[in-house]
Amino acid sequence: MTDQVFLGSDIAVGHNNSGPKEPAARELPVGVPQITFGGPDHYPDDVLARLTDEATEIIARYPQSRSALLPLLHLTQSVDSYITRAGIEFCAAQLHLTAAQVAAVATFYTMFRRTPTGEYLVGVCTNTLCAVLGGDEILAAAKEHLGIGCGDTTADGRITLEHVECNAACDHAPVVMVNWEFFDAQDPESTIELIEDLRAGLKVQPSRGTGGLCSFRQTERLLAGVPEEPGQ
Ligand code: FES
Repeated sequence: MTDQVFLGSDIAVGHNNSGPKEPAARELPVGVPQITFGGPDHYPDDVLARLTDEATEIIARYPQSRSALLPLLHLTQSVDSYITRAGIEFCAAQLHLTAAQVAAVATFYTMFRRTPTGEYLVGVCTNTLCAVLGGDEILAAAKEHLGIGCGDTTADGRITLEHVECNAACDHAPVVMVNWEFFDAQDPESTIELIEDLRAGLKVQPSRGTGGLCSFRQTERLLAGVPEEPGQ
């Protein structure tokens, strides 16, 4: 397999020989952003065997195999903490899709990340109502406190910061999410306290639900519908 670069709706280079053929690569007009997936292009044998077993179980839940694409993307994201070339190829092979079809879905949903993610993905909503009620100030304070920008991860690997669009929780604005669990009615001080508790390994309680938080990778396994894995 060669390196792969996904260009808009086409895949430029490389595909395994088992699935449908990809369209030929073509140059994009100047100014059109290239979308790429990095990371490993294959899984170690033991990881591949486990993923294949789990994917078989997930696919069996759906009348049509391609309906399992979202959980399979979450499953692969639990391995490397982001969607890699190996993840795209794995999903394509399991579901008899092209890599371009998988990439199109993976780039549509913002829950699928293209860079490594820390143990806790902290998302600050900066959409209209949250912004009016202080979301921008929360994000600015978090950036300054952590010394990182949006999409970046702290050197200790604990926190990835991002801004998120409306989470449909506007009546609890401003909202911060950690691994997609809600923390309602936040302000800069409470958010920094939350972040420091996470970095210190303290238990934090989301505003809703009865459970606590698990790591990003474990969250991805839960979203895929497979059991948590010890030690992740
Ligand atoms: S604007 Fe933030 S949850 Fe809707």
